[in-house]
Amino acid sequence: MDEIKEEILKDLKKVKNLNELKALRDKFLGKEGKITKLLSKIREIPREERKEYGKRVNLLKEFALKEIERKRKELEGLILEENLKGEWEDLSFYQGEEEGNLHPITKTLNRILQIFLFMNFTLEEGPEVEREDYNFDLLNIPKEHPARDMQDTFYLNREGYLLRTHTSPVQIRTMLKKRPPIRMVSAGKVYRRDDDPTHSPMFFQVEGLVVDRDTNIRQLKYTVRVFLKLFFGQEVKVRFRSSYFPFTEPSLEVDIGCLLCKGKGCGVCKGTGYLEVMGCGMVHSRVLKNCGIDPQEYRGFAFGLGVERLCMLYYQIPNIKLFYENDLRFLKQF
Ligand code: DAH
Repeated sequence: MDEIKEEILKDLKKVKNLNELKALRDKFLGKEGKITKLLSKIREIPREERKEYGKRVNLLKEFALKEIERKRKELEGLILEENLKGEWEDLSFYQGEEEGNLHPITKTLNRILQIFLFMNFTLEEGPEVEREDYNFDLLNIPKEHPARDMQDTFYLNREGYLLRTHTSPVQIRTMLKKRPPIRMVSAGKVYRRDDDPTHSPMFFQVEGLVVDRDTNIRQLKYTVRVFLKLFFGQEVKVRFRSSYFPFTEPSLEVDIGCLLCKGKGCGVCKGTGYLEVMGCGMVHSRVLKNCGIDPQEYRGFAFGLGVERLCMLYYQIPNIKLFYENDLRFLKQF
């Protein structure tokens, strides 16, 4: 029995897989197994030794079962490790499958700002949570002014604050902070209580302001024309229409010849041959005065445009809602 014990231990050391382990088990505990044979021999043992013999054989059997079980666990552990090795993945390995890209609005915004920076404008910033007086009053939009209804506003619980309805308050901030000459653009999110197929409650605007002694309307028109030509990368037909904004006098609306039908009239331009792209004008003398700038000495021009609109025209995107759904099938096209 001691020899068998030794043999089991020696054999177990050589076992490399579960099949070999099964063979080992059969060798000792199978039908013809060495221990099985010892067990069946029990009846041949003289009576007085039988009890002692039976005890020892059973101990040997228990020993064998325990060692085999230990080996099985060891082997299964190894198998698990082997499998894990096969499954191991280097997460830091860059496979370049899913390269991201910038959102079309971001790309358009960058394109617009690049053009204005190239035209020597500086970039100014303003907050989205804005003071009511900067957003309205100082821009010559008093409390009872109808323009205040034109822009349905998100007011905040904090008295005197709102979500800016346009980027024009950045004009005010800049004029309060800097002395002319001023030549600035600003860009960012604006908010209105609007939500339909052509309006989103949040959208992007770019604002521009130039204030200097000899600023005039020809410079305004020239600036707008150059910008539109550079933005669309081609000669575009530009039309200025008289309009109204409380912060400019005179005020102008800018249209471009429809890019799709080349002015013949189509669904996109609603048969007019023109597309509205921005508002602009000469800064109202009261706005200059509100910011401590003498309108006798200085004049200014300003403009404001919607980024979504330019983006839709540039990439020919039919619906403003596509920008905010974050559908990868849409976003991956840019
Ligand atoms: N603030 C105007 C709007 O949100 C856009 C605008 C028009 C801005 C004319 C200007 C401007 O600076 O001169 O509709």
